[in-house]
Amino acid sequence: MCGIVGAIAQRNVVPILLQGLLRLEYRGYDSAGLVVVNNSHLERVRSTGRVAELTEKSASTHGHLGIAHTRWATHGVPSERNAHPHISSDVIAVAHNGIIENYEELRTRLTAQNYVFTSDTDTEVIAHLIHSHYARGNSLLVATQAALTELVGAYAIGVVAADNPDLLIGSRKGSPLLLGVGEGEHFIASDASALLQVTKNMVYLEEGDVAEIGLRGYRIFNAKGDEVKRPVHISELTNESVELGEYRHYMQKEIHEQPQALADTLEAVCNSQSLVPGIFGAEAATTFADIDSILILACGTSHHAGLVARYWLEEIAGIPCNVEIASEYRYRVSVPNPKTLVVTISQSGETADTLAALNHAKSLGHVHTLSICNVPESALVRLSKLRMLTRAGPEIGVASTKAFTTQLAALFLLTLVLAKLHGKLSKEVEQQHLHALRHLPSAAQAVLNLEPAIAKLAERFSDKQHALFLGRGLHYPIALEGALKLKEISYIHAEAYPAGELKHGPLALVDKNMPVVAVAPNDLLLEKLKSNLQEVRARGGELYVFADANTRFHSSDGINLMQMPEHAGFLSPILHTIPLQLLAYYVALQKGTDVDKPRNLAKSVTVE
Ligand code: G6P
Repeated sequence: MCGIVGAIAQRNVVPILLQGLLRLEYRGYDSAGLVVVNNSHLERVRSTGRVAELTEKSASTHGHLGIAHTRWATHGVPSERNAHPHISSDVIAVAHNGIIENYEELRTRLTAQNYVFTSDTDTEVIAHLIHSHYARGNSLLVATQAALTELVGAYAIGVVAADNPDLLIGSRKGSPLLLGVGEGEHFIASDASALLQVTKNMVYLEEGDVAEIGLRGYRIFNAKGDEVKRPVHISELTNESVELGEYRHYMQKEIHEQPQALADTLEAVCNSQSLVPGIFGAEAATTFADIDSILILACGTSHHAGLVARYWLEEIAGIPCNVEIASEYRYRVSVPNPKTLVVTISQSGETADTLAALNHAKSLGHVHTLSICNVPESALVRLSKLRMLTRAGPEIGVASTKAFTTQLAALFLLTLVLAKLHGKLSKEVEQQHLHALRHLPSAAQAVLNLEPAIAKLAERFSDKQHALFLGRGLHYPIALEGALKLKEISYIHAEAYPAGELKHGPLALVDKNMPVVAVAPNDLLLEKLKSNLQEVRARGGELYVFADANTRFHSSDGINLMQMPEHAGFLSPILHTIPLQLLAYYVALQKGTDVDKPRNLAKSVTVE
């Protein structure tokens, strides 16, 4: 969702800005633009297409200072006039990520002061507000700081002024922004991948920080206006990790990276002989001993990971667990229990609703907080007392894949550690689980070998409008995830049901045009699931069954069987996810959709 890149250098920054925008494309956007300061003028180029179009349009644009933006429309349709950067009085240019909630009131006030609005965006008020302070003789830093105190909402911004060719301003509150430190040049961006082309030295701005950035140095001020020092991190990201390589799409690449991502996430544990709470942070042992329940908060695919974890946590660790969609929890009146461990799950660590839900939980008095996250320096990680980092590496495809399976691996570790601390895990069973975890990456690799068969199966979905996914128990959330993947990237309407609910509604939809995908592990509910599937066949529904070995399913008329290599016990949901990811991917290929950047969706939803 919206991406910002800014640069100040002794060379032309336009190629840097464009390359940065290309790296941010994955966040999701529908228009793009840039501004450079050139001879005391603001030169702006905007386009409603892809960054490639903006690149063509800015072929003759040059400047040593500039800001650029990819916009995911919230206020106002995707159009050139609504694309950022927005300019006030030919002097101030602003690129913004986030939502300004009091923009209508500010717009009325600024209009009364004769500011003319040329877009429907909330962002334009920021440009005019900064200008109103700048025109009174304040420095760009002071004018920006003054304007920010009047904003209600979330923002990351980049600001430049036509008459100030030596200064770039960046600030964040509620949306991500970092500063890149080069040699005699500096940058800002929404995430590190945009800046790897120029530097690996990153400074993560904190909530409310404003950075005043020049060629030779920078100063950071906190929300109170005090100058502060923030550490410089050397990014571990590599250019290769954000490049496509031999794959056709990032989603395909990321599906294939799962064995390695799982191995990396489990590395510390698999190399040791027993589980220790320390993998969740120094205070984990005391915190975990003090809790009697768990509340998981997340959005989208991460929420599905939480739903799987509930089955594990209650069955293996014997700890009651609730899982809530973050955007619902944050506005619901709930009854806090101080002995609850609040677990937030997020790939990006920047999802606005998940962050707000965590803050809401804290405001209710919850002190035991743990985040499971893929981005070490993200806001979510910084806001939580405990953390477990998934080591999936950068995930670029909008549809989450390797982040999900590594979240599951981390949640399984959490389950085992809690079970051990709460006296629910014998030494022998602990060893069995560790053995299964060590085997998990190669088991995932074996599932990937089904790819050609799944690609063939996908051909049968290309003319379908709807699909039903069924699972039971631990695998019901996997059915939910399979349906989400299919709808996200192939635009086929897909719904998931716990198979036992079939008779209570969805069976009415089943006919020969309705493919029904069943997740069929070899577990205690297998025979029950088989009865549910008979109900589908009896109504002429076409079945696609992803079954474990020894489940005694056979392909026949109307039953398409995909045989999984093995049954992985409690870890089975992780393996059963992979063929459903592949199915969605190959159906999307059949339909010719934009797999990595599905319409209307964003990778990181940094607004509410
Ligand atoms: C967006 C993405 C999803 C993701 C969800 C939560 O909707 O498109 O793939 O699952 O946000 O994101 P998070 O970064 O918090 O896991």
